[in-house]
Amino acid sequence: MKSHGKVMTYVKGFDDEIGGGIPPGHITLIRGSTGTMKSSLAYYILYNNALEGRKGLYITLEQDAESLADQMRSLGMPINAIRKLIPILDLSRGREKLQELHRKMRSLKEKALWSPIPENGFLGICQNKVEELIEEHNSDMLVVDSLEALELVADFRERRKDLYDFFEWLRFLDVTVFIVSESSLDLLTFMRSEETFDEAFLADAIFELKMETVNGIDVQRRIRCVKMRSVEHKTDYFTLVHENKWFEIAKAIR
Ligand SMILES: Nc1ncnc2c1ncn2[C@@H]1O[C@H](COP(=O)(O)OP(=O)(O)OP(=O)(O)O)[C@@H](O)[C@H]1O
Ligand SMILES: [Mg+2]
Repeated sequence: MKSHGKVMTYVKGFDDEIGGGIPPGHITLIRGSTGTMKSSLAYYILYNNALEGRKGLYITLEQDAESLADQMRSLGMPINAIRKLIPILDLSRGREKLQELHRKMRSLKEKALWSPIPENGFLGICQNKVEELIEEHNSDMLVVDSLEALELVADFRERRKDLYDFFEWLRFLDVTVFIVSESSLDLLTFMRSEETFDEAFLADAIFELKMETVNGIDVQRRIRCVKMRSVEHKTDYFTLVHENKWFEIAKAIR
């Protein structure tokens, strides 16, 4: 691990509730239903850490880089100003992008030594690229947004085994990882409703985001830390608000 000391979320008030931050090298799942600001929070954590000298890499598989940049700008994070600190690997066009990436990588390498497609297919191409970017940019942190989109692109057939191998690879990278995951009963989770959520066991920490209706009218955002290995932390829900560039928490009022 390149940097020591806890990785802060910079969500005001929240770090104190989780023992000061996340142990470096942890794999944290940021899960919640659509629109709960999972991507915003993941990018916000990278952004604020980058400003303090911990660089990150953001892999976007759902939203394209431009739309991600617009969303982050609207939250007071000018992506372009820090492009070098947080490169974005845009795989939002999935296989098409990976194929293009592979063509480029092949033309850079010695043709004779380069097999047409890495052994583990498109996921392999993506992994090679991520390793290359982490080395080139000396990244300490990584966001994968989202796990469900990755599963589709990488064609996870034996989910349990493929997921286990993927987490093994993430640990080998030796960076602090955030994986965005859709936890609602959308089509994909419905399709795999018979299966357990192995990612919850494989992850070291889980942040859960949700929307809560208060008094039948107002909808508030909530966050809680479901688990964090080797840390004493609160598991309560807190209200999550965003104001003037900052996320902050307040005690949830019933
Ligand atoms: N400037 C802003 N301030 C506060 N909230 C905002 C702002 N801009 C967007 N939002 C909220 O953020 C939500 C989108 O956030 P984000 O894309 O991070 O969510 P997500 O959980 O990743 O969603 P998805 O499931 O679509 O990936 C919007 O639906 C909107 O409610
Ligand atoms: Mg998102």
